[in-house]
Amino acid sequence: MSSLFIPVILGTARKGRRSENAAHFIFEQTKARAGVETEFVDIAKIPMRLDDAGEQMKDPAFSDLVTRADGLILVVPEYNHGYPGLLKHALDMNLKEYIHKAVGICGVSAGQFGGARVIEALLPVMRELGLVTIFNDVNFGPVGKIFGDDGKLLDQRFVSRTTEFLDELIWMARVLRDGRENVAPV
Ligand SMILES: Cc1cc2nc3c(=O)[nH]c(=O)nc-3n(C[C@H](O)[C@H](O)[C@H](O)COP(=O)(O)O)c2cc1C
Repeated sequence: MSSLFIPVILGTARKGRRSENAAHFIFEQTKARAGVETEFVDIAKIPMRLDDAGEQMKDPAFSDLVTRADGLILVVPEYNHGYPGLLKHALDMNLKEYIHKAVGICGVSAGQFGGARVIEALLPVMRELGLVTIFNDVNFGPVGKIFGDDGKLLDQRFVSRTTEFLDELIWMARVLRDGRENVAPV
């Protein structure tokens, strides 16, 4: 079986974003997995218009990346109990590219719930996009205690938590790829 392609998407463009530490950590853990290829996607670098929305402002490179993906990892900070509007604006540019692909979500927050609320808020969006959510998350919170200012991981428990998350996501991505390739739509 060829490698799975599972990019990691950093879901905020905020200056000084602490989610970047979490996203880099998840990216490195994903890169270390056998049979998995990944890529780091920073939504700050996706060209986006602010006077339009949806598929008509599709970015060809982002569309191609999602088309090639077998699964996605979203690393998303909690902003007022919701997700950053810019992430939604970016995700809305694609549609058929997501269908029957796995998605895992990592929440990031200053508060102790580790972005649990932003993950819940994203679930209906994932469903509408045709993505298949897994039942493992990684909750980075309070993020200031998990990574130092230099981005170094301070809490080693996140290694095993991420392993469990990736185990489930990789399984789901593999099963869905087999389904897309071998099971005809009804
Ligand atoms: C507009 C905004 C709203 C926020 N709302 C919440 C919140 O609802 N709950 C929370 O725990 N932290 C909240 N925070 C703090 C972020 O979770 C915190 O900045 C964390 O580091 C992750 O976001 P970051 O990647 O932008 O740094 C908010 C931050 C911003 C900028």
